[in-house]
Amino acid sequence: MDKSIVLIGFMGAGKTTAGELAARKLNTGFIDIDLEIEKEFGMPTTDIFKKHGEKAFRTYEKNIIESKCTEKRQVISLGGGAFMDEGTRRTCLDSTIVIFLDISWEAWKKRYELLVDTRPVLQDRDLDEIKGLYSKRRVLYADHHYSILVDDLTPDETADKIVELYLH
Ligand code: S3P
Repeated sequence: MDKSIVLIGFMGAGKTTAGELAARKLNTGFIDIDLEIEKEFGMPTTDIFKKHGEKAFRTYEKNIIESKCTEKRQVISLGGGAFMDEGTRRTCLDSTIVIFLDISWEAWKKRYELLVDTRPVLQDRDLDEIKGLYSKRRVLYADHHYSILVDDLTPDETADKIVELYLH
């Protein structure tokens, strides 16, 4: 199979960690879209949001995903908000294998403290609002080829499942 794998899911589902491991197991390249954006702007995501605004972040996010999606046999980890864009959803679904790393709200809440400092989207919302965002996003993540419930999985087990889905 020549297509790339695109990993989607809410912040903190483990897309980057499991994606990197899966790429190693498949002996392919790994692309972290957030990292690509940070490299372009030369600063962390929180600063990009503060200095350039979310719109600038989203515009670059959309463009970089479109250019990377057509590359062959890459594991590509998307930021949790990227699938809000309809064009991005279509591009990924048409040209790659989209795998949704699903995490339950209960399991996600336990990760909140680890995420909040580096995720601007979480910083100006209380937990109820974040739950609303989680529910809204889940509707969009429903557009995928495969899904993996990651609640009880280690990143390595998640990576094994990604590889299994890709190869079969
Ligand atoms: C975002 C998720 C982040 C990053 C940015 C915005 C979002 O990526 O792209 O902070 O809107 O959900 P992760 O899903 O890798 O945390």
